[in-house]
Amino acid sequence: MTRIFGVIGYPIGHSLSPAMHTAAFRALGLDALYEPFEVAPRFLAPMLRGLTLAGVEGLNVTVPLKEAVLPLLDRVDSNARAIGAVNTIVIRGRRLIGYNTDGLGLRMALQELGWRPRPTCAVILGAGGAARASAWELSRIRGSCLTIANRHPRRAQTLVRWLKRTHPHACIQAVPLSEVALDDAELLINATTVGMRASDGLPVDARQLRRGMLVYDLVYHRQTPLVRAARRRGCVAANGLSMLLYQGAASLRLWLQRQPPIAVMRHALERAATSDMRQATRP
Ligand SMILES: NC(=O)c1ccc[n+]([C@@H]2O[C@H](COP(=O)([O-])OP(=O)(O)OC[C@H]3O[C@@H](n4cnc5c(N)ncnc54)[C@H](OP(=O)(O)O)[C@@H]3O)[C@@H](O)[C@H]2O)c1
Repeated sequence: MTRIFGVIGYPIGHSLSPAMHTAAFRALGLDALYEPFEVAPRFLAPMLRGLTLAGVEGLNVTVPLKEAVLPLLDRVDSNARAIGAVNTIVIRGRRLIGYNTDGLGLRMALQELGWRPRPTCAVILGAGGAARASAWELSRIRGSCLTIANRHPRRAQTLVRWLKRTHPHACIQAVPLSEVALDDAELLINATTVGMRASDGLPVDARQLRRGMLVYDLVYHRQTPLVRAARRRGCVAANGLSMLLYQGAASLRLWLQRQPPIAVMRHALERAATSDMRQATRP
């Protein structure tokens, strides 16, 4: 019998996950489907019930449902509970178990660029859901210094207060995005949406980027102006495609208890991202 997996979000049309997971299932010789399900927030509870009854075995969860899904699950893994967001659901015997693989995805993506989990002076641009998962992951490294810079500074302050509740002694500060200074930063993470549109510029002044800095842009649909500028200025830099890859690979491991075919998944993602970008730029 064909096994069914999928991703829920609203909207969901531009998700690259179906291409990645479909390629993985094929490589693993699995008779399985991965479908995008567009779920308006008000229909989340009945849709989850329906998908469970239909025999769906696993789901990814994307914006704007990552927080809303929490109270609807039978169990939430401690990491996802701490972050306050779920991006993966495993469904076994009609029981729904929530996980968050975004942090692990980020860590694996950074390690691929040569970063090692040691005390780091890091700046995160943005204070939304992706910034929250990134900040959570980095603040787990004792001795690190973290700056959260956001356009609306109140949101950055809220994120810092939240982090300090679980890491009371951590070195974490909030600043307005317009005042961010990268003098001491070893790691810069863009978790804003700046760079998603073809017309976007950089979220920070390019002159602040310098050799030795690792720059990771969570935006994954294109090679962003930030990544291009960072490379020109001698930084190691990449866009968020690798984080998408590793969070997806971690989801697949949770659903199937098997090693994910990373190379196949990466290739499928790169192809899907390129075709998505071509469609977006078509007049
Ligand atoms: N690679 C991956 O696996 C992965 C995973 C998750 C997310 N992402 C990407 O991460 C990005 C953020 O996603 P999210 O879910 O965190 O979104 P979100 O919760 O909506 O947060 C958006 C963030 O972008 C900032 N922002 C929006 N427009 C801006 C502008 N013109 N100038 C400066 N800042 C601006 C917002 O600042 P304000 O608070 O001031 O509005 C906020 O901090 C998206 O590009 C998403 O695709 C990638």
